[in-house]
Amino acid sequence: MAQRETWATRTGFILAAVGSAVGLGNIWRFPFVVGEGGGSAFLFVYLLFIVLIGVPAILVEFVIGRRTKLNPVGALRELGGGLWKYLGYVFFVTAFVILSYYSVVAGWFVRYFLIGITDGYGVEDPEAAQALFGTVSVGLDSLAFHALFMAATIGIVALGIRRGIELAVKVMVPALVVLLVSLAVYAATLPGAGEAYAYYLSPDFGVIAENWQTLLPDAAGQAFFTLSLGMGVMIVYASYLGEDRNLAEDGAIIVSLDTAFAVLVGFVVFPIIFSAGADPEQETVGAIFFSLTEAFSGVTGGTVLGVLFFGTVAIAALSSAISLLEFVVAYFIDEFGLERRTAALVAGGSIFLLGVPVTQDLIFLDLLDGFADAILLVLGGLMLAVFVGWVAPDVARDELSRGIGELGSWGVAWIWAVRIPVVVVLAVALVLGVIGYVEFLTGDFAGWLGG
Ligand code: PHE
Repeated sequence: MAQRETWATRTGFILAAVGSAVGLGNIWRFPFVVGEGGGSAFLFVYLLFIVLIGVPAILVEFVIGRRTKLNPVGALRELGGGLWKYLGYVFFVTAFVILSYYSVVAGWFVRYFLIGITDGYGVEDPEAAQALFGTVSVGLDSLAFHALFMAATIGIVALGIRRGIELAVKVMVPALVVLLVSLAVYAATLPGAGEAYAYYLSPDFGVIAENWQTLLPDAAGQAFFTLSLGMGVMIVYASYLGEDRNLAEDGAIIVSLDTAFAVLVGFVVFPIIFSAGADPEQETVGAIFFSLTEAFSGVTGGTVLGVLFFGTVAIAALSSAISLLEFVVAYFIDEFGLERRTAALVAGGSIFLLGVPVTQDLIFLDLLDGFADAILLVLGGLMLAVFVGWVAPDVARDELSRGIGELGSWGVAWIWAVRIPVVVVLAVALVLGVIGYVEFLTGDFAGWLGG
């Protein structure tokens, strides 16, 4: 067997992890969950979770990966034995479900990219922007672009030509930052900006106290989704890591970059929504498309900006989608002894089929996203925290200290943070997430089925 690869450089690892983390979660999902959660109230809880839960949780995955240098199933089998390996199967289901709708939404970005090239974004008013989103997001167009995006993902994973994409991401991620900062500056000049900042940035603790049953699971789920946590992706990345790396420092950098990205998107989207006189809570999954096509139609050179923006996001989404399909394909290869190409085709094909209903009715987006995000990712994160906190704390602390040196009380503090606050918050979030999901199934979804 060949020597296991390691990351050539520190930036290689950080960029790969950031490439998986930064994607539709930051650009598409974040603004709409903030809108649904009432703006600043959600932002406050989310940021708190990133620091108190996200950072310890990313370290949990890092230490498991680097210690065992194995995939998640193998890693948990080796460190925990017996039953723990079944957690690996939960991760498998999670990746499967997430990619099915991720590809549909990524297809919308590809479609908007092409609209910019062929027609421009000439939407005169909010209604026109919404109408455009309607034609893109539901129906044959949506299906066709889901197929296209999935085919590209399958092709890349089947041929193993990821390096080209990784290179592209290294250019695209900085480009995206520049674009977003320019858009945020533009948004600051809009008449609705002041009102939008108040909505986005000044937390009302009354609102938090009143809505904690929905805020808590949603913020926990979003924190895990955006950091690619709770399904073992970071275990895989860290398994290629050398012993000399300072995991805490790398984790902090990755989390900060990902969070900065999401927060920046809010500075673009909300001023535009407010100055268009729209209600952020009503915009939901179309928020980013609706607000940006408005913006791009209103400035000179907007079409060029738009083409750049939607194209860049599509590539960022492709890099996250590849990390998801790789994950599923690796299982197919290990478990069923399939060949790489066959595995990519079978796995990708089934994931495509699962996503097809989403292209026909957005209720299926809630059905899949709610299940993956509020339940599966939180469950995965909870089990990993229990594992590191209670089953293998000494190994974990020892692994964290490599590349750092003397951890002292920090190591103890980390283990205790994982043991109690992280486990308790995730357990509560999971229970509330299940309740919320059952409410959705028996309410909106049952209503949809019946009517
Ligand atoms: N973090 C990615 C995003 O924000 C999504 C993702 C989740 C990717 C889980 C891999 C694993 O778009």
